[in-house]
Amino acid sequence: EKGEYRHFMQKEIHEQVRSLTDTLAGRVDFDEGTIRLPQLNLTPELARRIQRIYITACGTAAHAGMVGKILIERIARIPVEVDIASEFRYRDPIIDADTVVLAISQSGETADTLAAMDESRRKGATLWAIVNAIGSQAMRIADGYIAMQAGPEIGVASTKAFTAPLVDLYMLAILLGDLRGTLPETERKRLVADLRLIPDLVSRCLDREAEVVQVAREMRYIRNILYLGRGINMPIAYEGALKLKEISYIHAEAYPAGEMKHGPIALIDRDMPVLAIAPKDPWYEKMISQIEQAKARGGSVIAVATEGDERLPALCDHIFWVPDAPWMLSPVVTVIPLQLFAYHIAALRGLDVDQPRNLAKSVTVE
Ligand code: M6R
Repeated sequence: EKGEYRHFMQKEIHEQVRSLTDTLAGRVDFDEGTIRLPQLNLTPELARRIQRIYITACGTAAHAGMVGKILIERIARIPVEVDIASEFRYRDPIIDADTVVLAISQSGETADTLAAMDESRRKGATLWAIVNAIGSQAMRIADGYIAMQAGPEIGVASTKAFTAPLVDLYMLAILLGDLRGTLPETERKRLVADLRLIPDLVSRCLDREAEVVQVAREMRYIRNILYLGRGINMPIAYEGALKLKEISYIHAEAYPAGEMKHGPIALIDRDMPVLAIAPKDPWYEKMISQIEQAKARGGSVIAVATEGDERLPALCDHIFWVPDAPWMLSPVVTVIPLQLFAYHIAALRGLDVDQPRNLAKSVTVE
C-alpha cells in the first residue's frame, strides 16, 4: 500500500534508502574489503577467461547498463558493450564461449531482453542476469544471476529498480577486477569501503525534496528540456529525461554534453531549458564550460551540483544539491533529484503518475 504517499512512484523513490541497504547486506564484507555474489557462479577461471561483456537491456535497465560499462571497464579492464535488447537480438552480434552476456531487467519478463538472452545462448555465451523479480524467466535461464534487492516495484516509472543495479554493477566490477588481478588490494578496499556511504548519501538527497518541488512548481508548464551529462553521469541524463517524458509527457531529450557543439546547441534559446548534471566528478570542468555556453545563448539552466560548489550558483538559475559522493557511485546520488523532479512535475500536472498513458509495467510483447 501507498501509506503516507500519494503515489507508488513517490513511495518507491523514498524506499531507496532501504533497498540500497538491502543491496549491500550479505554481499559486502567491510572487514575484509571483499564482495560475495554467489548466485553469479563466477569462478576465478571464468573471470580470467572473459574477453568481452555485452550488457543488454531496455529502457531504464539499459541506462543502468551504460553506467556499468564505465565501471567494469575502469575497474576490471574488460571491454564492455551496451546494447539495447531489441537491436542486439537482430544484429548477429559476435559472440563466442569467452563472451559474457549480461541482461538487466526489473521484471525478468521483457520480451526483447529474453530474446537477446536466447540468441546469446544459441551462440554459446555465458549468460548472466541482474533481475528483480524472483523466479522470473530471465533469472531461470541465466547461468548465474544477481538478485536485485529493490523489492516489488508498482509504479510504471522505474526508480528503485534503477539504483539497485547500479550498486550491483559496481560490486560486480570489483569482484571481476579482484579475480582477474587488475584491481590492487588497497584500491579494492577503498572501493568496498565507499559502499558503506550509500544509504546515507541517498537519504540526504531525499531530505532536499522540498527544494525540488519548488523548481518543479516553477517549471511545470515547460514544453521541452535538454538533459546534459558526461562520463559516468551521461547515462543519468538519459535516465532523467526518460523519467520526465514517460510520466509528464514533456519532451525531454538527453545528450552527452560534448555532443552539443555538433548540432543540438542550435536548439538553445530562452524557451529551451537545460538540465546539466554537474557534480564534482572527473568531468566537472567540462560540464562547467558546457553550462557557460548554454547560458551565453539565453537558456535557463538547472544544475545537479555537489553541496559546497561555489561556481555553479553564479552560473545557473536553479540548483539541485547532492552530497559529495565518490565519483564511481555518484550516479546513485545524482539520479535522485531527477526522479523527484519528474515525479513532482507529473503530480502537479494532475497526471496518472503510476499508470502513464500508453505504457505497461512490463513489455512482454515485441
Ligand atoms: O522490466 P525491465 O527492467 O526489463 O523493463 C525495461 C523497461 O521496459 C523499463 O525500464 C521502462 O523503460 C520503464 N518504464 C522506465 O521507467
